[in-house]
Amino acid sequence: MFETHGIVTRNDPLGPGAFWMELRAPEIAAAALPGQFTMVLCSDGPEPLTRRPFSIADVVEDRIALAYVVVGRGTTLLSRAAPGVRLPLLGPLGRPFDHRVPAGTHVMVAGGIGSAPFPLLARAIREADPGAGRLVLLGGRTRDHLFARERFLELGCEVREATEDGSLGHRGFVTDLLPDVLAEADVRLYACGPTPMFRALRGWLEASDAPCQVSVEPVMACGFGACYGCVVPVRDGEGFRYVKACEEGPTFEIRDLRVEDLPSH
Ligand code: FES
Repeated sequence: MFETHGIVTRNDPLGPGAFWMELRAPEIAAAALPGQFTMVLCSDGPEPLTRRPFSIADVVEDRIALAYVVVGRGTTLLSRAAPGVRLPLLGPLGRPFDHRVPAGTHVMVAGGIGSAPFPLLARAIREADPGAGRLVLLGGRTRDHLFARERFLELGCEVREATEDGSLGHRGFVTDLLPDVLAEADVRLYACGPTPMFRALRGWLEASDAPCQVSVEPVMACGFGACYGCVVPVRDGEGFRYVKACEEGPTFEIRDLRVEDLPSH
């Protein structure tokens, strides 16, 4: 983990209320693994803010990328950060996806800005398992909410879309695309998105033994185990216990989580 500054090199619209930011941060870029995150202080100005967690969406040379939607004061300030601004960073943090097990097809399931961790994962899978298929199931309200779709295509992934308004691909939810995928042999799933998507995914997996890692996004104040703000329920025998998602996650095998007790967002 490095405590450093990143220099913003771009901060461009990615879709409605969403941005793609790149920051020059050589130490974090060199160490980052897919599924890890960084804590970002969203302004270099005088306003006191806590750091916010963001998935490391991609690594390009000495730069890390973040994909984010504007949801509050911190991300509003972040969206105003122009190239050249220095932002305090902490990272890389958290347990990465385990993507090194070969598979016929690696399937990334993304709801909305849940696509954030997957460009880096798609890149890493290409290096670790070059012969495997890489399929991205991308869901959003409209075709404009299929965040980072072009990047996945540039990375050589197959992309299947689901939009709630039917403006591109299947009309409905991204989890509607799962039965066809789960009917195939030797698939490994990775998912990130809202809690209802996890619940639907868990339901489809009742009849499947396909491994499925999810990346959860609880509130995080510190990012390194000090505040207990990020706890999530994991199964423990017949009961459950809480673990810190910043340390034991943010990636979990979905069958280890009590998705029914995750906060809805
Ligand atoms: Fe503080 Fe996890 S974010 S303990």
